[in-house]
Amino acid sequence: MNSFDFEKVLTIGAGGMIGSYVDFGYRPDHTTLDILDADAVMEFVKKNNPSAIIHLAGATDMMKTEQDPLYAYELNVRGTYNVAQAATSVGATMVLASSSRVFDGHKKGPYTEDDAPDPQTHYGRTKYISELIVASLVESYIIARTAWVFGGGVDRDNKFYGKVLKQLQSGTEVTALYDVHGSPTYGKDFVATIKDLLEKGERGIFHIANAGTATRFDLATAMATHVKPDAHVRAVDRSYFASSTTLPTNESISSKRITLRPWQEALAEYVSEEWKA
Ligand SMILES: NC(=O)c1ccc[n+]([C@@H]2O[C@H](COP(=O)([O-])OP(=O)(O)OC[C@H]3O[C@@H](n4cnc5c(N)ncnc54)[C@H](OP(=O)(O)O)[C@@H]3O)[C@@H](O)[C@H]2O)c1
Repeated sequence: MNSFDFEKVLTIGAGGMIGSYVDFGYRPDHTTLDILDADAVMEFVKKNNPSAIIHLAGATDMMKTEQDPLYAYELNVRGTYNVAQAATSVGATMVLASSSRVFDGHKKGPYTEDDAPDPQTHYGRTKYISELIVASLVESYIIARTAWVFGGGVDRDNKFYGKVLKQLQSGTEVTALYDVHGSPTYGKDFVATIKDLLEKGERGIFHIANAGTATRFDLATAMATHVKPDAHVRAVDRSYFASSTTLPTNESISSKRITLRPWQEALAEYVSEEWKA
């Protein structure tokens, strides 16, 4: 029986790609609630007394996180600390969206919840510190590591998938890496899984990604089959993009506790439902 009241859940960062699938509870936008304003976060949380806080706000401009470590630190570390302090003050369960980039990227095959983090990027380090903050300050928490998220549709998807879909739609040539592996994840499936975990009272660290791994080339090719089957997708290696050379080559994760549908099925649904011409 469903006893979890999702109307008592606060989501921070609900205006983003993943947050676009949250259709319940308190969802203040960035201008209403800034995670860098510790007093405002504490006041908002004490006033609304949420049973859980889903924390999706963070430094998500990957290029900028590597060029400007302070940007990553401020949002991912200080911002998360402010949210964790507020969650603790009302005894709320805290859900942190974390990342496959907490791992070193050298493993052959997907990282599971049993693998030890060893981040190699500024972004990864700040996400790992945010995990440590949540695990040490908050009594009841879910650390949800995910990777290569697609979602948000035409308006909010400005990252890899959105760029490729726009290139395909406009007939621009698509180039994509064939030598970096990751775990594609539909934001909609991520949010549904978080709801399920909250409802079942599951707590701890979870890897949440659609089943299967892929390269960026695999993903671009799959999107082309749905949008423009005659498009040519050019496979390139990491040396092609200056920004890719320092990134991990393996961002694949799998879970010992959660199995989601295959990424191919989820991506097909995303393109057909949210990228209709
Ligand atoms: N996307 C992925 O592939 C991926 C993979 C692994 C982990 N994650 C994690 O999942 C979380 C959500 O990712 P996403 O892709 O949905 O990000 P996103 O689309 O960039 O959304 C982030 C949201 O946070 C808000 N925000 C930014 N700074 C804020 C602040 N100081 N105070 C309050 N809100 C603020 C943004 O609002 P404005 O736009 O108005 O600034 C936006 O609504 C992040 O923690 C990210 O690290 C994402």
